[in-house]
Amino acid sequence: MTADEQKKAAAQAALEYIRPGMKVGLGTGSTANHFIRALAAKVRLENLDIECVPTSGQTNQLASSLGLRMTTLEKHPLLDVTVDGADEFDGNFQLIKGGGGALLAEKIVASSSRYMIVIADQSKQVETLGKFPLPVEVVPFGVKATAWKIERALRLLNLTGKLVLRVKDGKPFRTDNGNTIIDVSLGAIPDPNRLSIYLNNVPGVVEDGLFIDICSIVLMGTDKGVETFKKAAHRPS
Ligand code: A5P
Repeated sequence: MTADEQKKAAAQAALEYIRPGMKVGLGTGSTANHFIRALAAKVRLENLDIECVPTSGQTNQLASSLGLRMTTLEKHPLLDVTVDGADEFDGNFQLIKGGGGALLAEKIVASSSRYMIVIADQSKQVETLGKFPLPVEVVPFGVKATAWKIERALRLLNLTGKLVLRVKDGKPFRTDNGNTIIDVSLGAIPDPNRLSIYLNNVPGVVEDGLFIDICSIVLMGTDKGVETFKKAAHRPS
Protein backbone atom coordinates (compact mmCIF):
# COMPACT_ATOMS: atom_id res chain seq x y z
CA MET A 1 0.00 0.00 0.00
CA THR A 2 1.27 3.47 -0.80
CA ALA A 3 1.12 6.21 1.82
CA ASP A 4 -1.78 7.75 -0.06
CA GLU A 5 -3.71 4.46 -0.03
CA GLN A 6 -3.11 4.23 3.71
CA LYS A 7 -4.43 7.78 4.16
CA LYS A 8 -7.50 6.90 2.10
CA ALA A 9 -8.18 3.74 4.12
CA ALA A 10 -7.89 5.67 7.40
CA ALA A 11 -10.24 8.36 6.05
CA GLN A 12 -12.78 5.72 5.05
CA ALA A 13 -12.59 4.13 8.53
CA ALA A 14 -13.42 7.48 10.14
CA LEU A 15 -16.87 7.39 8.51
CA GLU A 16 -17.87 4.81 11.14
CA TYR A 17 -17.89 7.59 13.72
CA ILE A 18 -20.28 9.85 11.82
CA ARG A 19 -23.93 9.82 12.92
CA PRO A 20 -27.00 11.69 11.61
CA GLY A 21 -27.35 15.22 12.96
CA MET A 22 -23.68 15.59 13.85
CA LYS A 23 -21.70 18.82 13.60
CA VAL A 24 -18.33 17.80 12.16
CA GLY A 25 -15.03 19.69 12.10
CA LEU A 26 -13.13 19.16 8.86
CA GLY A 27 -9.34 19.21 8.92
CA THR A 28 -6.92 20.40 6.28
CA GLY A 29 -4.41 18.51 4.15
CA SER A 30 -4.23 15.52 1.82
CA THR A 31 -5.57 13.02 4.38
CA ALA A 32 -8.38 15.32 5.47
CA ASN A 33 -9.26 15.76 1.78
CA HIS A 34 -9.76 12.00 1.46
CA PHE A 35 -12.14 12.17 4.43
CA ILE A 36 -14.04 15.12 2.95
CA ARG A 37 -14.59 13.21 -0.31
CA ALA A 38 -15.64 10.04 1.50
CA LEU A 39 -17.96 12.00 3.81
CA ALA A 40 -19.59 13.81 0.89
CA ALA A 41 -20.27 10.45 -0.79
CA LYS A 42 -21.79 9.05 2.44
CA VAL A 43 -23.96 12.14 2.95
CA ARG A 44 -25.27 11.87 -0.62
CA LEU A 45 -25.91 8.15 -0.38
CA GLU A 46 -27.60 8.18 3.02
CA ASN A 47 -29.11 11.67 2.80
CA LEU A 48 -27.46 12.57 6.13
CA ASP A 49 -28.30 15.87 7.81
CA ILE A 50 -24.80 16.73 9.02
CA GLU A 51 -23.18 20.17 9.05
CA CYS A 52 -19.46 20.87 8.83
CA VAL A 53 -17.03 23.49 10.09
CA PRO A 54 -13.93 23.88 7.90
CA THR A 55 -10.42 24.60 9.20
CA SER A 56 -9.18 26.46 6.13
CA GLY A 57 -10.31 28.22 2.98
CA GLN A 58 -9.01 25.25 1.01
CA THR A 59 -11.14 22.80 2.99
CA ASN A 60 -14.16 25.09 2.80
CA GLN A 61 -13.82 25.21 -0.97
CA LEU A 62 -13.48 21.45 -1.42
CA ALA A 63 -16.26 20.53 1.02
CA SER A 64 -18.68 23.12 -0.39
CA SER A 65 -17.95 22.06 -3.96
CA LEU A 66 -18.88 18.48 -2.99
CA GLY A 67 -22.21 19.63 -1.58
CA LEU A 68 -21.46 19.33 2.14
CA ARG A 69 -23.47 21.76 4.28
CA MET A 70 -21.14 24.23 5.93
CA THR A 71 -21.69 26.06 9.20
CA THR A 72 -19.56 28.04 11.65
CA LEU A 73 -18.24 27.78 15.19
CA GLU A 74 -20.20 30.96 15.93
CA LYS A 75 -23.42 29.04 15.32
CA HIS A 76 -22.16 25.80 16.89
CA PRO A 77 -19.40 26.46 19.45
CA LEU A 78 -19.39 22.78 20.44
CA LEU A 79 -18.95 20.24 17.65
CA ASP A 80 -19.49 16.50 17.90
CA VAL A 81 -16.26 15.41 16.28
CA THR A 82 -13.34 16.71 14.23
CA VAL A 83 -11.51 14.52 11.75
CA ASP A 84 -8.08 15.71 10.66
CA GLY A 85 -4.65 14.52 9.56
CA ALA A 86 -1.40 15.08 11.45
CA ASP A 87 2.26 15.52 10.70
CA GLU A 88 3.23 13.33 13.67
CA PHE A 89 1.47 11.50 16.50
CA ASP A 90 3.01 9.71 19.47
CA GLY A 91 1.86 6.98 21.85
CA ASN A 92 0.28 9.59 24.16
CA PHE A 93 -1.99 10.94 21.40
CA GLN A 94 0.03 14.18 21.24
CA LEU A 95 0.42 15.66 17.78
CA ILE A 96 2.43 17.96 15.60
CA LYS A 97 0.25 19.73 13.07
CA GLY A 98 0.55 22.71 10.80
CA GLY A 99 2.59 21.36 7.90
CA GLY A 100 -0.15 22.81 5.70
CA GLY A 101 -0.25 26.04 7.67
CA ALA A 102 -3.79 25.71 9.05
CA LEU A 103 -2.79 24.93 12.64
CA LEU A 104 -4.63 27.83 14.30
CA ALA A 105 -8.09 27.03 12.95
CA GLU A 106 -7.32 23.30 13.26
CA LYS A 107 -6.57 23.69 16.96
CA ILE A 108 -9.58 25.93 17.63
CA VAL A 109 -11.94 23.57 15.82
CA ALA A 110 -10.51 20.32 17.23
CA SER A 111 -10.50 21.65 20.80
CA SER A 112 -14.14 22.75 20.34
CA SER A 113 -15.17 19.18 19.54
CA ARG A 114 -16.30 16.43 21.88
CA TYR A 115 -13.47 14.43 20.40
CA MET A 116 -10.86 14.57 17.68
CA ILE A 117 -10.03 11.68 15.37
CA VAL A 118 -6.67 11.73 13.63
CA ILE A 119 -6.43 9.87 10.36
CA ALA A 120 -2.94 9.10 9.13
CA ASP A 121 -0.64 6.87 7.18
CA GLN A 122 1.94 4.83 9.05
CA SER A 123 4.78 7.29 8.46
CA LYS A 124 3.17 9.75 10.90
CA GLN A 125 3.58 7.47 13.92
CA VAL A 126 6.63 8.37 16.04
CA GLU A 127 8.01 7.42 19.40
CA THR A 128 9.03 10.99 20.23
CA LEU A 129 7.60 14.06 18.52
CA GLY A 130 10.00 16.43 16.83
CA LYS A 131 11.50 14.95 13.70
CA PHE A 132 8.97 17.02 11.79
CA PRO A 133 9.80 20.73 12.18
CA LEU A 134 7.33 22.28 14.60
CA PRO A 135 5.20 24.98 12.94
CA VAL A 136 4.73 28.10 15.06
CA GLU A 137 2.29 30.72 13.78
CA VAL A 138 3.49 34.26 14.51
CA VAL A 139 2.24 37.73 13.62
CA PRO A 140 4.39 39.33 10.90
CA PHE A 141 5.03 42.43 13.06
CA GLY A 142 8.39 42.10 14.79
CA VAL A 143 8.96 38.60 13.47
CA LYS A 144 12.75 38.75 14.10
CA ALA A 145 12.21 39.79 17.71
CA THR A 146 9.69 36.99 18.11
CA ALA A 147 12.15 34.48 16.63
CA TRP A 148 14.79 35.65 19.09
CA LYS A 149 12.38 35.15 21.99
CA ILE A 150 11.48 31.68 20.73
CA GLU A 151 15.20 30.83 20.73
CA ARG A 152 15.46 32.13 24.28
CA ALA A 153 12.50 29.97 25.33
CA LEU A 154 14.19 26.94 23.78
CA ARG A 155 17.42 27.67 25.67
CA LEU A 156 15.47 27.82 28.94
CA LEU A 157 14.26 24.31 28.17
CA ASN A 158 17.74 23.13 27.19
CA LEU A 159 16.59 22.59 23.61
CA THR A 160 18.51 23.51 20.51
CA GLY A 161 16.45 24.32 17.46
CA LYS A 162 16.90 25.71 13.99
CA LEU A 163 14.31 28.34 13.11
CA VAL A 164 13.24 28.84 9.50
CA LEU A 165 10.71 31.39 8.31
CA ARG A 166 8.37 29.49 6.00
CA VAL A 167 8.49 30.65 2.39
CA LYS A 168 6.05 29.90 -0.43
CA ASP A 169 6.63 30.91 -4.05
CA GLY A 170 9.59 33.04 -2.98
CA LYS A 171 7.57 35.06 -0.45
CA PRO A 172 6.96 34.63 3.27
CA PHE A 173 4.10 32.15 3.69
CA ARG A 174 0.83 33.70 4.87
CA THR A 175 -1.75 31.74 6.82
CA ASP A 176 -5.50 32.19 6.31
CA ASN A 177 -5.29 34.71 9.16
CA GLY A 178 -2.56 36.80 7.52
CA ASN A 179 0.14 35.54 9.88
CA THR A 180 3.41 33.85 9.05
CA ILE A 181 5.00 30.60 10.22
CA ILE A 182 8.35 29.83 11.79
CA ASP A 183 9.25 26.14 11.46
CA VAL A 184 11.35 25.00 14.41
CA SER A 185 13.53 21.93 13.80
CA LEU A 186 14.28 20.28 17.12
CA GLY A 187 14.90 16.63 16.27
CA ALA A 188 13.13 15.53 19.44
CA ILE A 189 10.66 17.14 21.84
CA PRO A 190 10.99 15.34 25.18
CA ASP A 191 8.25 17.38 26.93
CA PRO A 192 5.72 18.64 24.34
CA ASN A 193 3.36 20.10 26.97
CA ARG A 194 6.07 22.25 28.55
CA LEU A 195 7.36 23.43 25.19
CA SER A 196 3.87 24.41 24.09
CA ILE A 197 3.36 26.47 27.27
CA TYR A 198 6.71 28.25 26.81
CA LEU A 199 6.06 29.00 23.13
CA ASN A 200 2.60 30.37 23.78
CA ASN A 201 4.08 32.73 26.38
CA VAL A 202 6.18 34.47 23.73
CA PRO A 203 4.61 37.76 22.60
CA GLY A 204 3.96 37.54 18.87
CA VAL A 205 3.31 33.81 18.90
CA VAL A 206 -0.29 33.18 17.92
CA GLU A 207 -0.28 29.38 18.24
CA ASP A 208 2.08 26.44 18.06
CA GLY A 209 1.57 23.17 16.23
CA LEU A 210 1.65 20.96 19.33
CA PHE A 211 -1.79 19.47 19.97
CA ILE A 212 -1.73 18.41 23.60
CA ASP A 213 -4.55 16.28 25.00
CA ILE A 214 -6.87 17.15 22.13
CA CYS A 215 -6.88 13.93 20.11
CA SER A 216 -8.37 10.77 21.57
CA ILE A 217 -8.60 8.42 18.57
CA VAL A 218 -6.03 7.68 15.88
CA LEU A 219 -6.90 5.65 12.80
CA MET A 220 -3.69 4.64 11.09
CA GLY A 221 -3.62 3.06 7.65
CA THR A 222 -1.12 0.20 7.36
CA ASP A 223 -0.37 -2.51 4.82
CA LYS A 224 -2.48 -4.88 6.91
CA GLY A 225 -5.49 -2.60 7.29
CA VAL A 226 -6.44 0.26 9.56
CA GLU A 227 -5.17 0.18 13.12
CA THR A 228 -7.28 1.96 15.77
CA PHE A 229 -5.74 3.58 18.84
CA LYS A 230 -8.14 4.88 21.49
CA LYS A 231 -7.15 6.87 24.53
CA ALA A 232 -8.28 5.09 27.69
CA ALA A 233 -10.24 8.14 28.86
CA HIS A 234 -12.05 8.53 25.53
CA ARG A 235 -15.79 8.91 26.03
CA PRO A 236 -17.71 8.98 22.75
CA SER A 237 -21.01 10.80 23.15
C1 A5P B 1 -2.44 21.21 7.95
O1 A5P B 1 -2.13 22.45 8.52
C2 A5P B 1 -1.78 20.12 8.72
O2 A5P B 1 -1.97 20.16 10.08
C3 A5P B 1 -2.14 18.75 8.17
O3 A5P B 1 -3.21 18.17 8.85
C4 A5P B 1 -0.97 17.88 8.32
O4 A5P B 1 0.10 18.61 7.76
C5 A5P B 1 -1.15 16.54 7.62
O5 A5P B 1 -1.17 16.74 6.26
P1 A5P B 1 -1.34 15.53 5.24
O6 A5P B 1 -2.62 14.88 5.54
O7 A5P B 1 -1.34 16.20 3.88
O8 A5P B 1 -0.16 14.63 5.42
